[in-house]
Amino acid sequence: MSLKPEDYKDQLLSEINRFLDTASNFEEKDVPPRLREAIRYALLAPGKRIRPLLVLLAADICGGDPRKALPGAAAVELIHTYSLIHDDLPAMDNDDLRRGRPTCHIQFDPATAILAGDALQALAFQILADQIDDKNTALLCIAELARSIGPFGLVGGQQEDVSFSDPGASDRNPGFNPGSDPLKNGSLVRQDLESLLLRIHSRKTGALLSVSLKLGALIAHANEKALAALDLYGKALGLAFQISDDILDVIGNSEDLGKSPHKDAEQGKLTFISLWGLEKSEEFLRQYVDQARKALTIFDRDLPAFSLLDSLALSMCGRKK
Ligand code: IPE
Ligand code: IPE
Ligand code: MG
Ligand code: MG
Ligand code: MG
Repeated sequence: MSLKPEDYKDQLLSEINRFLDTASNFEEKDVPPRLREAIRYALLAPGKRIRPLLVLLAADICGGDPRKALPGAAAVELIHTYSLIHDDLPAMDNDDLRRGRPTCHIQFDPATAILAGDALQALAFQILADQIDDKNTALLCIAELARSIGPFGLVGGQQEDVSFSDPGASDRNPGFNPGSDPLKNGSLVRQDLESLLLRIHSRKTGALLSVSLKLGALIAHANEKALAALDLYGKALGLAFQISDDILDVIGNSEDLGKSPHKDAEQGKLTFISLWGLEKSEEFLRQYVDQARKALTIFDRDLPAFSLLDSLALSMCGRKK
């Protein structure tokens, strides 16, 4: 009898968590204890593990063995955790709650948090290089991941995100008034803001979600058609994910979220809410979810991986955390 999709998901999640535990279980003599502790504190905290799940499901839906994709899954969760640690720093979003616990720089100190993030980033690439058996595939995964998290991707998106709300930005861009109504903001007209918003969201969040699917597909030696479909799914899911994050910042609560709500408006972030309001943002969210689900139609709908990818997209509407 085949496994129910939800049971299959639980099984994959426990394999991911086991792999993350082992990958960060450094020998005391090899890694300074405070760094080890900070890495494990942030990494093993109860995150949703959406990105590593995407890696394994993409491998599966492309006909590969999801277990072989575990190094890819761990790599994207390490990168994601590093990005959260740095995102929360006082110099960035200045948050004190993450995954239901004090943020890494509060629990430890800012220097340790920065270094834990740096270490996680390097370790992600080390895992891809060492633990993907086929070295050609490992190299492809390393190149794809590097491209999507650096200046062209995640870090580029974070720069535009913080520049928009940074009080110093008005000196560098006269007429620009951080934290004010984006529509009244300096020389930027509505159209500029709309494209800036899409660029920020697709880079700071979408790029890592998309590359997660790509790594799974590459490890499974997927064909071009499957890669293209997963790319479409990933781009739409990435936007849907960040729109729902923007919505949750307005309507969510810290208990469910594990992080503090109402931060975006306080900090004058450019979000779907600030530009479009709640109702229109929910409409955009539904549209991107539909797009993501449609992209899956080339795959076999009887596979548990199909139903999990489909319900993951659907869960972006109305998620609580
Ligand atoms: C939060 O990501 C950061 C964003 C990109 C919006 P998640 O909502 O996936 O965070 P965890 O991993 O579950 O904590
Ligand atoms: C975070 O976006 C994106 C990255 C961490 C790269 P947000 O700043 O909106 O994420 P949260 O709301 O703090 O989780
Ligand atoms: Mg941020
Ligand atoms: Mg943040
Ligand atoms: Mg947010």
